[in-house]
Amino acid sequence: MTEVAIRRLTANDVHAFRALRIEAMTAEPETFGTDLAEERAKSVETSAATLAATALFGSFVDGELVGMAGFSRLKPLRERHKGLVWSMYVRASSRGYGLGGTLLRAVIAHARSEVETLQLVVVSTNTAAVALYERHGFRRWGLEPFALKVGEGRYTTDAYYWLPLAQAPP
Ligand SMILES: CC(C)(COP(=O)(O)OP(=O)(O)OC[C@H]1O[C@@H](n2cnc3c(N)ncnc32)[C@H](O)[C@@H]1OP(=O)(O)O)[C@@H](O)C(=O)NCCC(=O)NCCS
Repeated sequence: MTEVAIRRLTANDVHAFRALRIEAMTAEPETFGTDLAEERAKSVETSAATLAATALFGSFVDGELVGMAGFSRLKPLRERHKGLVWSMYVRASSRGYGLGGTLLRAVIAHARSEVETLQLVVVSTNTAAVALYERHGFRRWGLEPFALKVGEGRYTTDAYYWLPLAQAPP
């Protein structure tokens, strides 16, 4: 029998978090803004600081971390009403079972008590992620051409999304 759980990651999860970030950047090299080499170069202390400064939710299958989604609040005084969804990833073998949706809903629920709007950026050709975000009410407000340089002469076009939360104006 398979046991599935979702919870916020703590300092105790730092090694599993690092491993899953590196797995994500390895498996999906054109999906994330962070380069694999940059991710590998991060120290355990840096990853621990990230966990402490943001809200990272993890999906566990039989105790193993297989998915994650993060929330972080913008820091400038005039932007503190906004939050960012980042590091959304589910291991390929665990996709299609609703883990991505559960993680995203956990981030949205957490964000409601912290900020007025949520933002995210997704490579516009990433149909699975775009469908997931739009199904959860995110609205596209822009496209950035030449957003990420993913190879010699190869760039992504990124889509910008936002989700108004309860306190936000319509
Ligand atoms: C996006 C991602 C997190 C979704 O995770 P998941 O656990 O499969 O998500 P869920 O099972 O909750 O939902 C999957 C949904 O996407 C749909 N889907 C899957 N592949 C799809 C595709 N190619 N096109 C359109 N929809 C697709 C499924 O039909 C399902 O929809 P349903 O709930 O209506 O049946 C996962 O695909 C992933 O990690 N991708 C690689 C990393 C990534 O793209 N991250 C986002 C960076 S912005």
